[in-house]
Amino acid sequence: MSEFEALGLRPSPDGGGLIIDGKLVSQSVLDETARGAAALGVKPGLAVVLVGEDPASHVYVGAKGKAAAACGFHSVQHTLPASATQAEVLALVDALNRDPAIHGILVQLPLPRQIDATKIIEAIAPTKDVDGFHPVNAGLLAIGETARSFVPCTPAGSMILLERAAKALGLGLAGLDAVVVGRSNIVGKPMAQLLLARDCTVTMAHSRTRDLAAVVGRADIVVAAVGRAEMIRGEWIKPGALVIDVGINRVAGEGLNAQGKPKTRLVGDIEYAVARKRAAAITPVPGGVGPMTIAMLMANTLASARRAAK
Ligand code: GUN
Repeated sequence: MSEFEALGLRPSPDGGGLIIDGKLVSQSVLDETARGAAALGVKPGLAVVLVGEDPASHVYVGAKGKAAAACGFHSVQHTLPASATQAEVLALVDALNRDPAIHGILVQLPLPRQIDATKIIEAIAPTKDVDGFHPVNAGLLAIGETARSFVPCTPAGSMILLERAAKALGLGLAGLDAVVVGRSNIVGKPMAQLLLARDCTVTMAHSRTRDLAAVVGRADIVVAAVGRAEMIRGEWIKPGALVIDVGINRVAGEGLNAQGKPKTRLVGDIEYAVARKRAAAITPVPGGVGPMTIAMLMANTLASARRAAK
């Protein structure tokens, strides 16, 4: 295995940048988590709460349960009907907070309209908030106390991919200009904190940013998390940049599928076909950041079980 492959990177077939293989890297995180769980002597326990019938949420939650089982975790799923009340969800969260066999609690978002997601997130014990969404964990990240907090899974996974790419290229992250496009609490803001903690000079761009092309064009590191198909044009990317695409957008494809319906395909927030020729390394969509999110959820749950065992 070449050094690049060992880091989870693939050469591009036609002289473009290195492809950062999130599937490979996520598998290495999952393998390490399974080994850590086996060595702990206590089964890390993950409870996932799903409210309602959103089909995408059912797919995600199923994948989280499978990954937890593959890591040797105690894995439970609580499925509530779409008509569940806020009081019912709060009562369930309270019971899970008090259950010593549960080290991680994840309430799948979005929630039905009658339920206030902020209230639910704030009801989860910060010590079991493996999503890293609770204000206490957001605050600990903001002051750099990540050894006793949980970092949200998608930015944590993005950071690992970025570090692998930088290592493969012999680059240090310190002092690099990083631009994060998107300011969500779940991805953009925590991503900016993580880059700042690695001594990058961080710019947060968003929907009101003037001349986004110029802002992106100055960046040594671009992280896109806006949820708009290919809105970051490939030609904006500075040659040699490291590019992390968090977006997963479904768009119309070509032709019909086996059921005779129009085909669809997944694309990121970055115009990959052009960007990959300019970037030094880039994540594809799918197969980049996506698989890392679940892997980091498992890593956070193991970290929680380790802290509880101490
Ligand atoms: N819905 C989509 N992604 C996520 C996630 O990472 N955590 C939770 N709780 N809900 C989600």
